[in-house]
Amino acid sequence: MKITIKQAKDYVGQVVTIGCWLDNKRSSGKIAFLQLRDGSGFMQGVVVKAEVSEEMFDLAKHITQETSLYVTGEIREDSRSKFGFEMGVQSVEVIAEAKDYPITPKEHGTEFLMDNRHLWLRSKRQHAIMKVRNELIRATYEFFNDNGFTKVDPPILTGSAPEGTTELFHTKYFDEDAFLSQSGQLYMEAAAMALGRVFSFGPTFRAEKSKTRRHLIEFWMIEPEMAFVQHAESLEIQEQYVSYIIQSALKNCELELDTLGRDTSKLELVTGEFPRITYDEAIELLHKLDFDDIQWGDDFGSPHETAIANHFDKPVFITEYPTAIKSFYMQPKPGRPEVVLCADLIAPEGYGEIIGGSERIHDADLMLERVKEHGLDPEAYSWYLDITKYGDVPHAGFGLGLERLVAYVTGVEHVRETIPFPRLLNRIYP
Ligand code: 4AD
Ligand code: MG
Repeated sequence: MKITIKQAKDYVGQVVTIGCWLDNKRSSGKIAFLQLRDGSGFMQGVVVKAEVSEEMFDLAKHITQETSLYVTGEIREDSRSKFGFEMGVQSVEVIAEAKDYPITPKEHGTEFLMDNRHLWLRSKRQHAIMKVRNELIRATYEFFNDNGFTKVDPPILTGSAPEGTTELFHTKYFDEDAFLSQSGQLYMEAAAMALGRVFSFGPTFRAEKSKTRRHLIEFWMIEPEMAFVQHAESLEIQEQYVSYIIQSALKNCELELDTLGRDTSKLELVTGEFPRITYDEAIELLHKLDFDDIQWGDDFGSPHETAIANHFDKPVFITEYPTAIKSFYMQPKPGRPEVVLCADLIAPEGYGEIIGGSERIHDADLMLERVKEHGLDPEAYSWYLDITKYGDVPHAGFGLGLERLVAYVTGVEHVRETIPFPRLLNRIYP
């Protein structure tokens, strides 16, 4: 019977075979402990000299790291390991030997590991991060499907720039100029007028010259857009969504979060209402915290966001930023047009902005004015301006950066470990 490591719990007392790789091993004269991994999980195989042939014990003792194997033996409970099960190995068959695997159990520098990202992914830590990432994606689809949203896929090759023109990746589209999408939002707004509540999940590109632990050049964004939903209701949907996926990860990735050493008590608090403070209040708070240089009208940097987030034990919404520092499509606050009905959701523990969202302008004249003010060509945006012409309604949406969320949930310091093959300022290999 061939099973995966994950299925071991259902086969206690039975003799089974797993296809796997050797992650690590320890051996003495009488016993060899094989750390096996098969993609579904990690499990120890125990080879006892007295229980197998001399040849088999000798083979087990000399298997090299990352050699692929079929291992056969009896599954038994193992209360000493977190996983809870191990295999009493009866026989080992080598599929393909691995020689001189470059990533050994000793410490390696980050650059070396990044150059070997295609192999580094096999490690227990990277495996755990990818499993948590997958769970957050799975729970995202579940949340939006359960709440009446339709998934819509916006294009990657586009002629529009929702988040400003300075960070665009240019490319040729035959004889025309085009960009790689920096956000699907404008298309999602059009889709919301067709399907009501929609969400997207796809890659986005920013030619940002930022080299921080929060910035990727290519990252994956979840972008919901909702017709007949305004600012306040959008914040409620955001807190429900973020709570749902974090609680799902806590429930379904217990082993992985333990592998990563994550303090999950902090994540358990992420339910119910999230605190909200206005940009004005945030500025006041920063002044109290001795950030004397920041003035009303300035955008926040990471140290500001971290200082604000440290005041709360849940993610916090900073709302109503100055109109001048936000995107062209954001709805001005009624009676106070110098601020917009927007919010950034700032994660605790220094992970920074994980969501940017807002209510959108639904007034044809104002939208056209804003497009022009921001130096965008109304001709190129004429399809987008059609939304305001044909039965526009109040609507709102937001974008969640998956890699920043994964960093926060896993407790990993840098977003480069939260995507399988990161694109960074100085890296497109492997
Ligand atoms: O705040 P941003 O730029 O908002 C938008 O793109 C909107 N059009 C979204 C919408 O309303 N539909 O980006 C949204 C999120 C940020 O909060 C952050 O989590 C992530 O995307 N993000 C990045 N993640 C990694 N690397 C980068 N360079 C990122 N830039 C933004
Ligand atoms: Mg933002």
